[in-house]
Amino acid sequence: MLLVRKRLGCGTNPISQTVQFARLNILIYDEQVARAHTLCYSEGDPNQQTVGFEVEDEASLQEAASTLEALGHAVHAGSAQESEQRKVRSFIGFRDPTSNHIELVVRPERSGRRYFASRDAGITGFSHIGLNSTDPARDERFWTQVCNARVSDRIGDIPLMRVNAIHHTIALVRAPKAGIQHINHQVETSDDVLRSYYFLNERRVPIVFGPGRHPTSGARFLYFRGPDDMIFEYSVGVDEIEDEATHRPRQFGFEPTSFFMWGAKPADMALPNS
Ligand SMILES: [Fe+2]
Repeated sequence: MLLVRKRLGCGTNPISQTVQFARLNILIYDEQVARAHTLCYSEGDPNQQTVGFEVEDEASLQEAASTLEALGHAVHAGSAQESEQRKVRSFIGFRDPTSNHIELVVRPERSGRRYFASRDAGITGFSHIGLNSTDPARDERFWTQVCNARVSDRIGDIPLMRVNAIHHTIALVRAPKAGIQHINHQVETSDDVLRSYYFLNERRVPIVFGPGRHPTSGARFLYFRGPDDMIFEYSVGVDEIEDEATHRPRQFGFEPTSFFMWGAKPADMALPNS
């Protein structure tokens, strides 16, 4: 099974503030392929969050459902109406061992209209998520065995996992309960990261980490706090794994310098391994 993209759904309250924030900053955007949406807010409990991944085809979806059921995970087969709401042909829903809600989808819709942002943030695409994990080693087994993820690097026992050539699409973050720890979008240049730093600062959007550079992926980053305390990240220059067959995960120490190279320390944001 191949996971190639992801889509997110977050409950939020009230929706109007969130949409305003989205217009101001980043949240609703599209890629060159004109995906209908990648991030969707609905009014409700902010703790109700879903991460969706696109799989290749219906056969892959059914194979995933069988594997999950064989492993004892309850699988919800999406109804026609639920699929329509998500603008996908079909999907299944399940929970990972930490209880993060995950959906696998087939044939998500594209939009005929090119996305045009309200601000030139330089976003080139949706890239990765940090997912809470109550037991990263256990959840790494789940993601690698069930969903064909591969470990690119580890910080302590925290895996940074890829589902394509990009260094990581899923980072597991030790936490006491399920949830999305952060949502990353790539931007075009380092200038975009720094422009956003000043833009967000001026508007009193809390910057929680950065600007900085990750020693694992090489990415230059900026983390800031959005609605419902969700952490968003802009970054640029994430490494790609050039040789899938020979790559071996590198082990980084369980220490702050494994997260930043320039001295940027997290403010009001727990490090991914704390
Ligand atoms: Fe990140």
